[in-house]
Amino acid sequence: MHRPTDNLRADHVLTAQGLAVLVGIGGHVRAGGPFPAADCAMALRFLREFVLAVHLRKEIELVCPAVAMRGDDRAAELVGELMRLHEEVGELIHSLILFWVPVDDLTAEERAVFADTCEAVAARLARMQQLEETQLFPACDASIPADDQLDWIDRFGQLEQERGPRTIWAQRLAPLLLQWRIGSQ
Ligand SMILES: [Fe+2]
Repeated sequence: MHRPTDNLRADHVLTAQGLAVLVGIGGHVRAGGPFPAADCAMALRFLREFVLAVHLRKEIELVCPAVAMRGDDRAAELVGELMRLHEEVGELIHSLILFWVPVDDLTAEERAVFADTCEAVAARLARMQQLEETQLFPACDASIPADDQLDWIDRFGQLEQERGPRTIWAQRLAPLLLQWRIGSQ
């Protein structure tokens, strides 16, 4: 069986792709391009339904509390930092959702705010991934007994079934990646 941290690392690969799409859309909007409402809606749906409602719940509800309880002061500090970043990411994503079907053409200032917010979400999630892969996951693998992690895989599966598994989101993101990550920059 794969370790739960392997499952989370696989989520990170897909999340990084979704963020590349978001930053690509942000750059296009900043440069004055027409607002790509449908693609933006899909990218935000991915952030809301996969990143927030599946991936971050796996980490925030299961992994972080276990590491904080079994770890030392440094682990507790790390989990506190991740919780803070998680809260900021949630607020930023919700503010982006306000933009996804703009009624009128955006002003230059609104375009800049949108692009800055896309970049801020991407930067915070990249920071979370870095902290998790270099500190949280190693601490989890070293300090949480395998038996304690057995239920996590089931719970991970439940969360994915509720909101769409990683494979489905990878299919949905594939055309956006071609458009926005590779084609637009
Ligand atoms: Fe993560």
